[in-house]
Amino acid sequence: MKIPTKKLKNGFELPDLGLGTWKIGGGREVDTSRDSGSIEAVKKAIAMGYIHIDTAEVYGAGHCEELIGQAIKDFPRENLIITSKVARVNLAYDDVLRAAEKSLQKLDIDYIDLYYIHAPNPEISLKETIRAMDRLVSDKLVKNIAVSNFTVDLLKEAQAYSDNKIVANQIEYSLLTRNKGSHGLPYADNVDMESKTLPYCQENDILVVAERPLERGILLEKNELMGKMVKKYNKSYAQIAINWLISQKNVVTIPKSDNIEHLEENLGGVGWKMEEEDIELLRQKYNN
Ligand SMILES: NC(=O)c1ccc[n+]([C@@H]2O[C@H](COP(=O)([O-])OP(=O)(O)OC[C@H]3O[C@@H](n4cnc5c(N)ncnc54)[C@H](OP(=O)(O)O)[C@@H]3O)[C@@H](O)[C@H]2O)c1
Repeated sequence: MKIPTKKLKNGFELPDLGLGTWKIGGGREVDTSRDSGSIEAVKKAIAMGYIHIDTAEVYGAGHCEELIGQAIKDFPRENLIITSKVARVNLAYDDVLRAAEKSLQKLDIDYIDLYYIHAPNPEISLKETIRAMDRLVSDKLVKNIAVSNFTVDLLKEAQAYSDNKIVANQIEYSLLTRNKGSHGLPYADNVDMESKTLPYCQENDILVVAERPLERGILLEKNELMGKMVKKYNKSYAQIAINWLISQKNVVTIPKSDNIEHLEENLGGVGWKMEEEDIELLRQKYNN
């Protein structure tokens, strides 16, 4: 299946649906116990049409990137959009360059399509981080830069320092999580996603990559309002939760799955559009 994309004025585009990979190859630590199944699942996902694969240097302490590297080997590189993220502890200039090199090695590729600052770190100069991100672009190791878990003010600040367009902000955003994220990070940047960040990105030609679209499964629990939508559109809970996101301007999403049935099911969340009044009804009433 060819997954529809959302495209910026500069030509950068992301499919409505990509593949999240948190917990593939471990959580915060390496877990090799499911390697072959994970590689197989990522390969199957690509064969099904998932071309955007979202990872980060911290996932499985780097092992996730290694598994993705193995999974993508048999596919033409130019058909894939591989994204990774530099961890918030590595935002000093040299650390960013080193982190990107390591990610490239683990992924076994020559360039990263989209490289994110994983989360802001007030203890490290953002200007310095952005200088390093720009350097990666001029060295052709990274094609596009992005931020994650950034508020509007931080996003504006980052853009002011950069020679390159910041094409995306990856934020926690789902039917259940609108304006207060649950990362529990020790700073208040995971707020106002729907009220401020989303409209700002929509007005300024920036993609919003919605992380945790299924709220790690909570959105699959039975609920009267969602139940009505499931019936009306003849879709599953996961498909409604995904479609509610991608029916909105500039929003794409990246549910994680390494289960083949779930990967197939999630594909059914795209390629159609929920009616505007239902998007708003869900926005107003869900969980209220
Ligand atoms: N930038 C950041 O700070 C940040 C933070 C969080 C997440 N992320 C990114 O966003 C991605 C998605 O977030 P997430 O993984 O935290 O949560 P999520 O995608 O909301 O939920 C993933 C969970 O839902 C299950 N699942 C997926 N599709 C399903 C289906 N159709 N039916 C039943 N269960 C289903 C998965 O299990 P199975 O594998 O068994 O299907 C997994 O346990 C991450 O993987 C990561 O790439 C980024």
